Amino acid sequence: MNQMDAKDIGYLITDINKIFFEGKMEVNHDLKITHSNTPFPHVYVENMYNDEELEQIFAELDYYQSNKETYFLPPTETGSATKEDNKTPIKNNVGFFLDHVYNERKYSKILQLNRRIFDTNEILCDPSKRNLMFSNFYPDKDWTLISYYENGGEYKEHRDKAVATACTWFFKYPKKFTGGDISFPDFKYKLKSNSNCMVIFPSFIRHKVSTISMKETDEGKGLGRYCMTQFMHYK
Ligand SMILES: [Fe+2]
Repeated sequence: MNQMDAKDIGYLITDINKIFFEGKMEVNHDLKITHSNTPFPHVYVENMYNDEELEQIFAELDYYQSNKETYFLPPTETGSATKEDNKTPIKNNVGFFLDHVYNERKYSKILQLNRRIFDTNEILCDPSKRNLMFSNFYPDKDWTLISYYENGGEYKEHRDKAVATACTWFFKYPKKFTGGDISFPDFKYKLKSNSNCMVIFPSFIRHKVSTISMKETDEGKGLGRYCMTQFMHYK
């Protein structure tokens, strides 16, 4: 590539940035965004949603929980990774794709609020340009899976079928379970999966969710661990 080509491509990237972020919602609270290339490119965000947004998210999750027979499906019906036999799911939770419930995003607060990944120009577009994958990442398709884990819930080592995966965790305080942390066994890397935090990572990196323990008396009340997973693709 000669110097002129490199310069032209530079301008092209600038234009795409402008289009991508034009007319997006303002974020009116402090997000703590950490970009990292080690042990692989990923983004960790704390304080993803503000208090009012969290209330709206939990109101929607509570609604699904109080109608769990209607909404929550077993692992075989939510695209679980499987054992070598290609049949046996390696996750133990319940869940559903929000996109299967709503044809239009406007009917779900969660589907509206989770545009935040694309709203701020600092999550998928690292202004410092130091993130090897997420400095200029512009997926044009994403799917939202809501998963819920209670006692014994886990997701063994697997890869996702997407380009990038974003996991955002939600649970109520005081916390009524232990475990449920995400880790990346090939890199011996573990992240604390606190409520209202999110990690974005390349989907081909193997990851797992540690087994959850909670008292029997706390089960069935929506006091377990929710994970909102956004699978990002190109059309
Ligand atoms: Fe996964």
